[in-house]
Amino acid sequence: MDIDAEKKYFVEALRFFYETQWLHNIPVTEILTKTSLDAVPKEWLEQLQILENEELNNFVVEKIIKSDWPDSLKTYVAKCKKINRLPFVPALPSIELPQNFKIGLSEKKQHEIIHLAYLVDVQCKQHDIRTIIDLGAGLGYVCQMLHYLYGYQVLGLERDKKNISRAFTRQKKLYPDSLTKVKYMHCDVTCDSANIIESILQQEFLDITDVCLIGLHACGDLSTSASRIFCKMKSAKLFILISCCYHKLSISKSVQEKQYFQNFPTSNCLRETIAAYNFDVGQFLRIPFLRLACQESADKWHGMSQEKHKEHSFYVLARAVLELYSQQNNYVLNKKVRKGTRKSQCSNFQTYVKDSLLRYDLVSDTDKKDNVITHEEMEKGITRLWEEQSTKLKTVEIYTGLQMMLQLPAESFILQDRLCWLHEQDLEAVIVPVMNKCISPRSYAIVSNKY
Ligand SMILES: C[S@@+](CC[C@H](N)C(=O)[O-])C[C@H]1O[C@@H](n2cnc3c(N)ncnc32)[C@H](O)[C@@H]1O
Repeated sequence: MDIDAEKKYFVEALRFFYETQWLHNIPVTEILTKTSLDAVPKEWLEQLQILENEELNNFVVEKIIKSDWPDSLKTYVAKCKKINRLPFVPALPSIELPQNFKIGLSEKKQHEIIHLAYLVDVQCKQHDIRTIIDLGAGLGYVCQMLHYLYGYQVLGLERDKKNISRAFTRQKKLYPDSLTKVKYMHCDVTCDSANIIESILQQEFLDITDVCLIGLHACGDLSTSASRIFCKMKSAKLFILISCCYHKLSISKSVQEKQYFQNFPTSNCLRETIAAYNFDVGQFLRIPFLRLACQESADKWHGMSQEKHKEHSFYVLARAVLELYSQQNNYVLNKKVRKGTRKSQCSNFQTYVKDSLLRYDLVSDTDKKDNVITHEEMEKGITRLWEEQSTKLKTVEIYTGLQMMLQLPAESFILQDRLCWLHEQDLEAVIVPVMNKCISPRSYAIVSNKY
């Protein structure tokens, strides 16, 4: 690893994310309360708001710019390209999932398991490995696939007992022949689990010396724990990991609005760069940044219709208006049901408010009794605010587009830190594109080996 080059990359990325925090450092519901839309440079807005629908899509997806645009906007686009070091996803091999594996699986899940299983097989063959440990196995889709298609013996480890029982029930019903070759065991995987995993492995499959550790959508800390386990576990020779939910990483310290994470950053290289340049990452690389890194990529805007854009900006702005109203009137919005709004509400603000008031409780955050008002008064107040703010719909879409352009740089930065950590442990490691981003946004695997 060229440490100087890595440090140069990290410092450039840190500066960029520091400067662009108006785009990524607040939850989308707070774009009005935190006046984020006002932070979009006027000269950028002037150019972007006159773009036709397709031109805006092409700007966000393909990064197509115009020669007469302001330099600051051109620099933004150039930096987005430069900070994203993730490799281009080439045409994927067309592999068809066996019919009996399609039952009950979404297209997305089918795509994920078939392509991950393919990569795992290619890699394991190169290293002569016949046993796989799946960390966070969920319902065991990949485990079963690896056995069915390629004959591996697989140990699926999972902390949720309900998932284990469902995986086992599924196995008995659909793949009874695999019972001795695919095992599901309970294990709450932490960074200290190497020995426990080794003993479960030896107990379930005899005399195993070489295994491949895998994880599909290993969320939050599971990803970084997996890397540490790979490093410590003697029999683990190969490691293939697709992470997700970076924003679920454990927070080690939060001071006022600052958030510091236990497992981000992880590499010495990034930590030293942060210290050397005095960056306070707890202030600008917070949960909203990590959340953005694991959202859908800008590719989602490829060919997106005007109607879809309108629907999206309505949904975002209407929710932000609810937030603004609550804050201005000293209320806290409490969701009554899991989903705040239904997409069907996105056509008409009157229906949206009525529905929202059924779905959210606006709870007074002061002790004053006179803060209690009727639903009707609330409806009127919120609608008045909407009338003031609804001119911002186009700006919302532009803001969202600019923010989406940061998704790949943000994910690249996080994965680069993890890759660097593996290199620092003297391990070979690379980032490999595995999936089609439009089908499955978490499309990159970190692949590492001990040879
Ligand atoms: C997003 S799901 C992915 C499941 C499966 N790999 C798949 O792609 O279908 C993540 C899974 O990891 C499990 N998990 C999360 N943290 C874990 C931990 N520390 N130890 C074991 N399992 C964990 C969760 O219970 C969940 O089943």
